[in-house]
Amino acid sequence: MIDFTNLPVKKKAYAGANGSKISVVYNGELYMLKFPVPPARNKEMSYTNSCISEYIGCHIFESVGISVQETLLGTYTKNGKEKLVVACKDFTSSGIVLQDFASIKNTIIDSAHNGYGTELSDILQTIEEQSVVPPETLKKWFWDMFIVDAFIGNWDRHNGNWGFLYETDTDQMTLAPVYDCGSCLFPQADETIMKRTIAEQTERDLRVFEIPLSGIRIDNRKINYFSFLSSLENPDCNQALERIVPKIDMEKVYTIIDEISCISDLQKTFYKGILTERKEKILDFALCKLKSL
Ligand SMILES: Nc1ncnc2c1ncn2[C@@H]1O[C@H](COP(=O)(O)OP(=O)(O)O)[C@@H](O)[C@H]1O
Ligand SMILES: [Mg+2]
Repeated sequence: MIDFTNLPVKKKAYAGANGSKISVVYNGELYMLKFPVPPARNKEMSYTNSCISEYIGCHIFESVGISVQETLLGTYTKNGKEKLVVACKDFTSSGIVLQDFASIKNTIIDSAHNGYGTELSDILQTIEEQSVVPPETLKKWFWDMFIVDAFIGNWDRHNGNWGFLYETDTDQMTLAPVYDCGSCLFPQADETIMKRTIAEQTERDLRVFEIPLSGIRIDNRKINYFSFLSSLENPDCNQALERIVPKIDMEKVYTIIDEISCISDLQKTFYKGILTERKEKILDFALCKLKSL
């Protein structure tokens, strides 16, 4: 575990609604330190497990070969209190800035649908109409991300949580690595919820078939990952299923979790159980259905 407490701090600040952030220099490189998010719903917890969710979610993206921010777990001590933090390596640099999908969407859709609106049809329309990267490339990227988000149970992939890197000198735009996976894997699950989930099939089924919902909407209703994927209604999404699911190696996923030194065996069992069932009951189920057509 790295102690990030006494590192040089930079003036760079980061937006986002989920918890405090500072920028520090570690090994000569800039990192955004994300602090744990105080829980909104579960008042029993002092802090959520958002930093662990970020770390595991990002490493799962990496394990399937999708470009993602580098993350490290560590501690930060303030007022004598040690907190678990996640350090996200800053992927911007001099002359290379992040432009989120919301800002690209603002250049396309009329003002009735603002950049942060997550209606699927608007997102897909923007993907077709934008010209900053080839639409086909962007469509694949979006759906690949959607499949991994379904696997890890991410409820917050809004249009500010993915985007592009803009090179100011050359006017070039490329896809930014995946970032912000802090809302996957039930960050508000406390020990009681974890124990119950491990013990009871109904609790696991709830966390596979019902929650979390996606941040993306159809007819203004948040997408249910299981219903949507198993409906096979979107051919591009189906192709992403075929591309991504074979790349998910559960042994690699278990290793990512087992190698985290700062969480309990209970927490590891919870994550591994949830991911095993989401893989089988959502992704494998949908892919199997697709192949049998
Ligand atoms: N690795 C990174 N490098 C550079 N900027 C980043 C990185 N990750 C996130 N950001 C920027 O910082 C903002 C806040 O980070 P994010 O992880 O989304 O926090 P939150 O969970 O509070 O939404 C993002 O919306 C994005 O603009
Ligand atoms: Mg965010």
